[in-house]
Amino acid sequence: MSDNCTGDCSPRLRRDEASEPLPFLDSLMDFERGRLSRRVYWDSLIYQHELEKIFARSWLFLGHDSQLPKSGDYLTTSMAEDNVIVVRQKDGSVKAFLNTCPHRGNRITFSDMGNTRSFICNYHGWSFGIDGALRGMAGQELFEASGMDKKEHGLHPVAQVASYKGLIFGNMDPGAPSLESYLGDFRYYLDVMLDMDGQGTEFIGGPVKSIINCNWKVPTENFIGDIYHALWTHDSAARAILGGPVSPVYEDTDSYHVNHNGHGWEFNLDTVGNAATLGDKEIRKYLYSIQPLVAQRLGELRSKMIGSISSATVFPNLSFLPGQNTFRVWQPRGPGKIELHTWTIVNKSAPEDIKERWRKGAMLTFSPSGIFEMDDGENFEFSTRSNGGFVTRQQDLYMGLGEGTALPQSDMPGNVFRNQVNEANHRAFYQRWLDLMKARNWAEVPVRDTNRLDEAAFKHADAANVAKDAA
Ligand code: FES
Ligand SMILES: [Fe+2]
Repeated sequence: MSDNCTGDCSPRLRRDEASEPLPFLDSLMDFERGRLSRRVYWDSLIYQHELEKIFARSWLFLGHDSQLPKSGDYLTTSMAEDNVIVVRQKDGSVKAFLNTCPHRGNRITFSDMGNTRSFICNYHGWSFGIDGALRGMAGQELFEASGMDKKEHGLHPVAQVASYKGLIFGNMDPGAPSLESYLGDFRYYLDVMLDMDGQGTEFIGGPVKSIINCNWKVPTENFIGDIYHALWTHDSAARAILGGPVSPVYEDTDSYHVNHNGHGWEFNLDTVGNAATLGDKEIRKYLYSIQPLVAQRLGELRSKMIGSISSATVFPNLSFLPGQNTFRVWQPRGPGKIELHTWTIVNKSAPEDIKERWRKGAMLTFSPSGIFEMDDGENFEFSTRSNGGFVTRQQDLYMGLGEGTALPQSDMPGNVFRNQVNEANHRAFYQRWLDLMKARNWAEVPVRDTNRLDEAAFKHADAANVAKDAA
C-alpha cells in the first residue's frame, strides 16, 4: 500500500466531521428472520449517508494496470459521485486525485483516458504535474503577492491507492485498513480470476458505459450470489444460445456461497458453465487447456471455478462473472440511478484469437445490447421503482434463503455455505453495510471475519508460484 500524499500536494482541507449515524439503521434489517426494509433502495437520506459512510471509506476499484502501461498514462473514473484522475507516475507507482481544480472548482480533464505531462484547467489555465502539484498559473506574481503558497494548492489526492494483482483501488479515508486486510481471505478466490497462470490479466476494450435506473445495491446483490434468478430470468436467452432448456438445479452438493468482509462469491465446480453461455466452444477448449496448470498453482478446487457457473462482488460495488469475463462497477448516481462501467478481462497470455472471441462473447451476453444484460436491467429497474409507493415501501422483503447452511468446518477460507441457490452472501453484504453505516470511523467497524489463511500463507503461496513459474 502506498500513501498517495506527497510534499507537493498535501491535503490542506480538513475533512468534515463525520455525520452521526442515522438512528433507525437497526430497524432496516433482521438477519435472524431474513427481513430487509425496502427503504434501503429509495431513501435519499440513506443514499447521502452511503456516499459518506460506505463509499468515502471503502476501497473502490479505479482501474487495471493494463490501462496505464507508461508514465503519464491516465484515466478518469468515479469513486461514487466523486470524479477522479488516476495517473501513472514516473517511478511506476499510481496516484489518484479529485478531477476538480482547487481554484474555482472546474473539471480538470474531460477525457476518459490519455497520456500527458501535465493537466491544465480550462478556466484560468492553472497547470498541474502528474504528481498533482500546482506547477504554474497565469499572473503567478499576483498570487505570490497575495501570500499564496503554491504547495498548498495541488490537486486533492485520494488518500490511499494500492493494487492487488493488476487491480488498482483507491480509498478516500486515510484511516481505512490496508487493501490486503480489506480483501483478506477473499484474495484466495480473487486469484481464480486474476492469477490462473502467473502471467496476469488485462482489460480489452471498454469501459462500455450505460445508465440503469436502479439503486446500486440491486445489481450488487444480484452478482454477489443470485444464481436463483438465472434459472428463471435468463431461461429463454440461455435456451437460444445453448439450444435447449437449462435444467434447474436447486439443491447441489458441489456448489457454494462464500463471503468475507462483505465480499461474496457463489460458485459451482463445473469449470466452464458460465463460459458455455458465450456459445463458443474455442473458449471452453482454452479453459480446459489451462486447467491442469491452474490445478498445479491454485489446487484442484479452484481450477474448477475458472469459468464455472458463478458470480462475485467485491464490497461495495465491483462485480464480475468468471467465464463470461465481464468485469463491472455499479457507479451510484442517486438512490434510483447507476452508471454501469464494464470491461472484458482476459488472461494476458491467452491467444489473441481467444481474447477477441471473449470480447465478442461478453458483448453478446453482458453489454447494453447483451441478451442477459437486458433481462437483468429490466428486473433491476422495476425492483427499484416499485418501492416508491407509500404503502409499498413499508413492506419488508425476504432474504432468508439458505439459513442454516453454513459449513464452519470447511477447508475453504471465508464463511462457507453449501448450495449456490442461497442468500447467505446477501445477508453478509448487508451486515457489512450496516456495520459501516453505524460506525463513525473504521475503528468502530466490528471485525467479524478473521482470516483463515494468514498473510504468511498468502505470501508463501505467491513465492511458491513464482518459483514454479521461474522453473
Ligand atoms: S478554475 Fe481552474 S484555473 Fe481557475
Ligand atoms: Fe442475471
